[in-house]
Amino acid sequence: MTPGIKPLVAGNWKMNGFRSELRELKLIGDGFDYELRSKIDVLICPPVTLLYTAAATALGSQVKIGAQDCHENSVGAHTGDISAEMIADCGATCLIVGHSERRTDHGESDAEVLAKAEAGLRNDLMTIVCIGETESQRKSGDTLSVLKAQLAGSLPDKVTRGELVIAYEPVWAIGTGMVPSASDVEEAHNFMRQELINRYGDTGNAIRLLYGGSVKPSNAEELMAISNVDGALVGGASLKSNDFLGICTAYKNIV
Ligand code: PGA
Repeated sequence: MTPGIKPLVAGNWKMNGFRSELRELKLIGDGFDYELRSKIDVLICPPVTLLYTAAATALGSQVKIGAQDCHENSVGAHTGDISAEMIADCGATCLIVGHSERRTDHGESDAEVLAKAEAGLRNDLMTIVCIGETESQRKSGDTLSVLKAQLAGSLPDKVTRGELVIAYEPVWAIGTGMVPSASDVEEAHNFMRQELINRYGDTGNAIRLLYGGSVKPSNAEELMAISNVDGALVGGASLKSNDFLGICTAYKNIV
């Protein structure tokens, strides 16, 4: 936690979710009660096929809806791509960029992630930029230098619109059930905070830093208690409303 920052629990459905699964979103909205709303923000990022309907389903619940990627341009001849303008037009208010699965599956560079982040912010989307080291980078002691380079290369110089959020997701912890030790998470988050302050001045103190990678109801409270951990980016456990609400409730207990 960072004093003064409202935590964000964000769910990334990845390439999961058919129309019938919007009932899970509805249940999350129903469970996001007054007390929870006052303590944390909640976001679900379904596949783009569900974005418009999800935004309509979530209306009135204060569950935010976001996309998992965008193209850097507004419109044009880019078959299969979706722009941040289109995402906003769907009624979504948030965006994830630079997830390690995009960086790996689609070879996205820091420069591309930066351009996508700028597209999200210029459309007033809350934009979550993901960074994180691979297992071999951690084993060779390069974690902090990898994070430093990714922050330097993937973040815009100015955050004039939208809201910038960073998600630290060790690649080896995603979908594996493995989670770094609390002290390793703390070291990474304290490092990121200092980097953000160095770059943005006082604004760096207000940027939410999420942890992602095998977050579950059973470990959420411990992770949340770590300094400079301002929420979670949740993959697998965001697909079932019970698990996702279990994570939200764990946060409620200590905020
Ligand atoms: P996981 O995924 O919670 O399934 O590990 C996290 C993520 O990729 O954001």
